[in-house]
Amino acid sequence: MKRRNLIIAATAAAGVAALTQGARAQAYPTKPISVIVPFSAGGPTDALARILGQRMGEILGQQIIIDNVAGAGGTIGVAKAARAAPDGYTLLFAHMGTLAVNIALYKSLPYDSQKDLEPVGLGGTNPMVLVAKKGLPAKDFAEFMAWVKANQKKAQYGMAGIGAASHLGGLMLNSMMKVDVLEIPYKGTGPALNDLVSGQFDYMVDQAVNVLPQIKAGNIKPLGVSTLKRLPQLPDVPTIDESGLKGYEVTIWNGFFAPKGTSKDVIAKLNQALLATLADEKIRVRLTELAVDLPSAAEGSPDALRNTLKASIDKWVPAVRAAGVKPE
Ligand code: MLT
Repeated sequence: MKRRNLIIAATAAAGVAALTQGARAQAYPTKPISVIVPFSAGGPTDALARILGQRMGEILGQQIIIDNVAGAGGTIGVAKAARAAPDGYTLLFAHMGTLAVNIALYKSLPYDSQKDLEPVGLGGTNPMVLVAKKGLPAKDFAEFMAWVKANQKKAQYGMAGIGAASHLGGLMLNSMMKVDVLEIPYKGTGPALNDLVSGQFDYMVDQAVNVLPQIKAGNIKPLGVSTLKRLPQLPDVPTIDESGLKGYEVTIWNGFFAPKGTSKDVIAKLNQALLATLADEKIRVRLTELAVDLPSAAEGSPDALRNTLKASIDKWVPAVRAAGVKPE
């Protein structure tokens, strides 16, 4: 073939490929979408993924199936999502612990959250609550701190593995209280909460979305909230900051991500479905009751989530290193 004809043939082939890709993105999704949740079923990440995923699936016209791939503080599930085919049929719903904080906590990670994942959109930000087993002899934060100090090396706190949100909440608390306590690891705070209710360990810092129902049922004691303002859902529970640990503040954002290489059209379609879900009145009411802070339209774009991820890495990696935690 002559050079000119070759160029025409190549241009036509590229045009057909672009058209096919465009048509595919328009038709997307044509089958159920799997969302990897890197923690156990029944915990906060799982609960939020299911609430948002169900409505997103209705909007997209395809079921969203939650795949709990738990273990190693969420790193196993994130690695699986990062290695998945970038076709829009495997997504990740994960929080800033597994995507940002754990950079300071592991000597090496099987993924780079900024390079291997494509942000889809923020799913919400959660305050945390310091909760203790009912039998713990402390009625407020000051008594709790005195009890932990008097029971070092014997006191036990629960967490969902290195780099989990409950690990960050607990390690910042313990480091600021200057105490050394035993760590009880779980694959998620769903199972950890069951054990706290039955008194198997002493305390945990977990996302409000998970612990509020058990606090309301009187099965665990709330001793402080992790935000600088009290929560409307727990107006009588002081902040940890106002109770004496000045500067203690931890909130946890969650977001949807896709493997790197997922097409822009697919990301845009998923983001639209997420934004429509977050604007749904029933979803807003349900999540607000669970103390989830919902993103505004500007905070909900893929680029905003990219910036949020970077800001969390910039904030938490030095903060965790300064707390003196050795990477595993
Ligand atoms: C979970 O879903 O179990 C939690 O988000 C775990 C955690 O990060 O503490």
